[in-house]
Amino acid sequence: MVDGIPTLEDLGDVSGKRVLVRTDFNVPLNRHDDGTVEIADDFRIRAALPTIEWLVDHGASVVCASHLGRPKGEPNPEYSLDPVRARLGELAPGVELLENLRFDPGETSNSDEFTATLIDGIDLYVNDAFGASHRAHASIVGPPAHLPSAMGRLLEREVEVLLGLRNRPKRPFVAVLGGAKISDKLGVVEALLDVVDSLVIGGAMCFTFFAAQGKAIGDSLFEPDQVDTCRRILDASGDKIHLPEDLVGLDANGNFATWGTQLPDGAKGFDIGPGTAAAFTDVIMDARMVFWNGPMGMFEDDRFAAGTRTVAQAMADTKAFTVVGGGDSAAALAQFKLDDEVDHVSTGGGASLELLENGDLPGLAALRTAPNT
Ligand code: 3PG
Repeated sequence: MVDGIPTLEDLGDVSGKRVLVRTDFNVPLNRHDDGTVEIADDFRIRAALPTIEWLVDHGASVVCASHLGRPKGEPNPEYSLDPVRARLGELAPGVELLENLRFDPGETSNSDEFTATLIDGIDLYVNDAFGASHRAHASIVGPPAHLPSAMGRLLEREVEVLLGLRNRPKRPFVAVLGGAKISDKLGVVEALLDVVDSLVIGGAMCFTFFAAQGKAIGDSLFEPDQVDTCRRILDASGDKIHLPEDLVGLDANGNFATWGTQLPDGAKGFDIGPGTAAAFTDVIMDARMVFWNGPMGMFEDDRFAAGTRTVAQAMADTKAFTVVGGGDSAAALAQFKLDDEVDHVSTGGGASLELLENGDLPGLAALRTAPNT
């Protein structure tokens, strides 16, 4: 038991039992012109192997279940788990994988009927789908109401690392947030401000903060309806928030340009500038714990990758305990081949933010009330 949540050992003897393992195999796919589909990154499949192997080694038969993408509650070949099943077959021969859970509307609506179908013929349930545990969907919260249940190894490690950041921070504790949308992250920004020593903000979300400070942001992406909230956050944060001091992007004629923090008319900022990247590096190097979620700019375009690359390198170089919240920042780390250089890469983007914000997730709460607790 960890934090009141049963672990694999709390399932008792699993030998001869049929175990439903909820995994998050929502992997990025490359779709080719000839119609073939290829897994772009199998990180989430490999991350579930310790749990699957433990169960198989202890004599259980394993049935995995996952969603892939956001099909609209009906079968859609585009979102079939066939490519994942093929890869899983190579990594863990003999392990079953059900078809995409979201092909049934009962998954997202958390219907009792769908849960009953899922657990039919199943003896035990394991949740190892950290990346989906912030969703109160049938496969996440349904089975633990009926079956002896546990969290898998991946989920256990995510909870230990992320709740460790939140509840037992080593100081200075620095959070680095980026990405385009501030509205997705306001909750976590406010929650983090209570625990961090510094909050470093890059990515397009900085423009909503600049707008709140009355700065000229040209035609850069920002969220007008969040300006007041950003102003309130800035007023309440003291000197904890670090915003960019220079920016790069495209001027009104579409030419690459560098500015301070006042952008001319028609300009669009797409990355933090070199001065900011150096300043952010200093903050990360001085930290004892760093959490990073969200790229500093449009790193998919080489012209605007330098800020994200510099932050990724600082994450690799610092002596601090480093945690990267999934999604785009994990993809950036992988692109720069630095994913082995940080202490923990979370398999969940939204889930890691929600766990940091609320200190709990629907999937964890469900496991705490399973019949074997
Ligand atoms: C993810 O990729 O973040 C998880 O698999 C959750 O997917 P969802 O946002 O479609 O629920």
